[in-house]
Amino acid sequence: MCGIFGYIGPHQAAPLLVEGLRRLEYRGYDSTGIAVKNGAVTIHKKVGKVQELRTILPASIKGQIGIAHTRWATHGGVTDENAHPHASSEGKVVIVHNGIIENARLLRTSLEVQGVELQSETDSEALAHIIERELSIDNNPEEAVRRTLRQARGTWGICVLFTDHDTIVCARNGSPLIIGQGVEEMFISSDPHALTAHTQQVIYLEDGDIATLTATSVKLSTLTGGASDTKSSVLENNWGEAELGDFPHYMLKEIYEQPDAIRHCISGRLDRAGGSGRLGGLKLTPATLAKIPHVRLLGCGTSYNAADIGGLLIEKLARIPAVAQISSEFRHNDPVINPSALHFAVTQSGETADTISAIKEIQLKGGNVHGVVNVVGSTIARLCGRGVYIHSGPEQAVASTKAFSNMVTALTMFALQVGRSRNITKEKGIELIHGLQQIPHLLEEYLESQGPIQEAVELVKDAKSVLFLGRGISAPVAQEGALKLMEIAYIPCLAYPAGEMKHGPIALLEEGSPVIFIAPNDHVKTKTVSAIHECRARGAKIILIHEEGDDIAQEGDVCISVPKVHNLLSPLLTVVPLQLIAYHTALALGCDVDRPRNLAKSVTVE
Ligand code: M6R
Repeated sequence: MCGIFGYIGPHQAAPLLVEGLRRLEYRGYDSTGIAVKNGAVTIHKKVGKVQELRTILPASIKGQIGIAHTRWATHGGVTDENAHPHASSEGKVVIVHNGIIENARLLRTSLEVQGVELQSETDSEALAHIIERELSIDNNPEEAVRRTLRQARGTWGICVLFTDHDTIVCARNGSPLIIGQGVEEMFISSDPHALTAHTQQVIYLEDGDIATLTATSVKLSTLTGGASDTKSSVLENNWGEAELGDFPHYMLKEIYEQPDAIRHCISGRLDRAGGSGRLGGLKLTPATLAKIPHVRLLGCGTSYNAADIGGLLIEKLARIPAVAQISSEFRHNDPVINPSALHFAVTQSGETADTISAIKEIQLKGGNVHGVVNVVGSTIARLCGRGVYIHSGPEQAVASTKAFSNMVTALTMFALQVGRSRNITKEKGIELIHGLQQIPHLLEEYLESQGPIQEAVELVKDAKSVLFLGRGISAPVAQEGALKLMEIAYIPCLAYPAGEMKHGPIALLEEGSPVIFIAPNDHVKTKTVSAIHECRARGAKIILIHEEGDDIAQEGDVCISVPKVHNLLSPLLTVVPLQLIAYHTALALGCDVDRPRNLAKSVTVE
């Protein structure tokens, strides 16, 4: 949540800051602001997106040092006053902050007692005042920040400007910050892809790091005052196209990118002759694989849904008990960790705070965690140190689409790899590989001819609620369809395994209630059809996602068929019409498809 961008160098900072914010906007878009130093520091900030900020910026803002912020509100409402940057009382210090200061109430009260007039309701503002107070002791920016952060409890990615010093001090604890090292210029960003236009040379700050930047130098230290051993690294340069191009929205672009994203994900990772997966980054020997007692997969939102499918596939193919769990619940339940068990952290951003906490809980109790991650070099990728990159390329719409597909693809390859070392025959492995290789082409075929999506939109767009039902491997797909429609079209949605419908949700049905069924041509299809009949008998309108050439095309009021595919791979096809229904419903309702209200792409607070 929240995006930070900073610049110090020979160029005018303001245009670079605004462009940096534009690239980071998906991280939060309640308000935006910039601060530029030209002798004094001037601040411009406003509720709304970067576009709104542009409307209040003067034609020219002079200054070659600056910091910027796009906010997802935690403490205090969405107001201009609460927007970052925040200045200290005498204006000597200006900060932007991402994270939560847990003892903010105490810090704010003690500042008020000292006579400081706070200008906002935020936790962050307190830090600006305390840094200014500490600066008055020795006029040393780095030490002032260090002493201040030692008084704070919580999480931070923070950048600090000083009117009397040509330097930016930044620090990280729980909220990502990356320094981009250019030629006689430095950049700071909350995530790497706002840096790629400027430099490939980066330093990922670690928790507890403090960095003092000038245009030509970076001095790294730690909160305790010692030297930091954080190193510089080089960004991947084939991360993928981050611009919108001819598409009206990122979400649609990313839906259409799924065939190529899957091609990247499987490229070089399938052993066709041996009928197995070849995921080197997992660093698992056949001896270790043979001894795994169980598998746990952790994730939030879409990543949890993908993890759920992964768990079903691992259990099916490798005959190892496997279960997906929601990261945000995990550590609070004091889980028992078996060091021989395999744990996966599934995440697009690699920055989700809940998943990071779950990983730390496992590591603390002696377990290992493998990442299934999109963003290369992200916190979770580095924390796990081993795992699989899903190679979706940049995903910028808040509603995740292509990352879901690639998580499922990566976990399928893993299930295949373990399955081959423990259970399934080479022939079965080769069959699944054939199926996987066909997926990109089948997706393209479906995207060419999508079926009656608009008819489905007509049924759901004015509904009080929408029920999504599927069985077996389609139950998590139902969950994913419900999440998509709910988060971007704001329609209450429920998802259930189809067999559970008669144990409660059926009470919701009345004449015309839309129910979306996901019923590929697998061994549970006939059971799902029974649930369809039960819903129809109560007046529900059925939207049926099914496979071409099966025998159930008459069962729905609206039937959307996807190409026939290997049974275990059906989620990769059936999820796409659900993504399209969500997208077109949100459009029909006039919602902001890419930036749904109250949400942010990367949820870096617990
Ligand atoms: O970056 P992550 O995959 O860890 O994010 C997890 C969820 O926050 C994310 O999937 C969220 O549910 C999406 N907005 C769903 O579309």
